[in-house]
Amino acid sequence: MSRTVVITGATSGIGRAAAREFAGRGDRLVLAARSPATLAQVREECRAAGAEVLTVPTDVTAPGAVAALADAAEAEFGAIDAWVHTAAVMAYGRFDETPAEVFDQVIRTDLLAAAEVARVALRRFQAASAGTLVLTGSVLGHITAPYMSGYVAAKWGLQGLVRALQQEARETPGVRICLVNPGSVDTPV
Ligand SMILES: NC(=O)c1ccc[n+]([C@@H]2O[C@H](COP(=O)([O-])OP(=O)(O)OC[C@H]3O[C@@H](n4cnc5c(N)ncnc54)[C@H](OP(=O)(O)O)[C@@H]3O)[C@@H](O)[C@H]2O)c1
Repeated sequence: MSRTVVITGATSGIGRAAAREFAGRGDRLVLAARSPATLAQVREECRAAGAEVLTVPTDVTAPGAVAALADAAEAEFGAIDAWVHTAAVMAYGRFDETPAEVFDQVIRTDLLAAAEVARVALRRFQAASAGTLVLTGSVLGHITAPYMSGYVAAKWGLQGLVRALQQEARETPGVRICLVNPGSVDTPV
């Protein structure tokens, strides 16, 4: 049975690979990332694999953008069955030499936007008593590495957030919350 799947971070790396994989299974895809040009490329790849595709250029850190994406997905395809969130950014450098706005942007993208995706998706899934949310953590949510403090802090925060959401989800059978923690994957990041 085909599903409606939203992918945030669909234009590169793990999100793009996931989009191709879902497309090959005949799912309806709602693809989001910031770059409209790259979204159009991924849309063509997925259509060539037989999928129906909606692309919605979205900055997940922009106020209201994630809710607008969900509204667009529902208007096109009806209820969302699954939401895969892979969008993230990284900044390298010593903590004390990293400008505060750079550190904050990593936290905003990698932790706060993931929380916003969870908020928007789970409200819809809970109303429908169905839906699967997949968030993307990292092995760097369990261990640490120097010169990546913002990323490491965000990914540790995401681990805690997901554990708490999974506990809350015990009250809502049918709603599943998953966290994927990759090790090193050869992607543009
Ligand atoms: N690659 C690894 O070794 C590795 C290891 C562990 C965990 N992970 C995690 O896996 C996930 C995917 O990583 P990846 O390696 O596939 O990264 P990637 O190739 O750099 O892809 C990141 C994606 O996120 C999108 N994105 C970034 N900021 C965004 C924003 N503000 N709004 C919307 N979309 C945004 C990018 O598109 P635009 O720039 O067009 O917005 C792109 O589609 C991340 O959560 C990462 O932390 C990766």
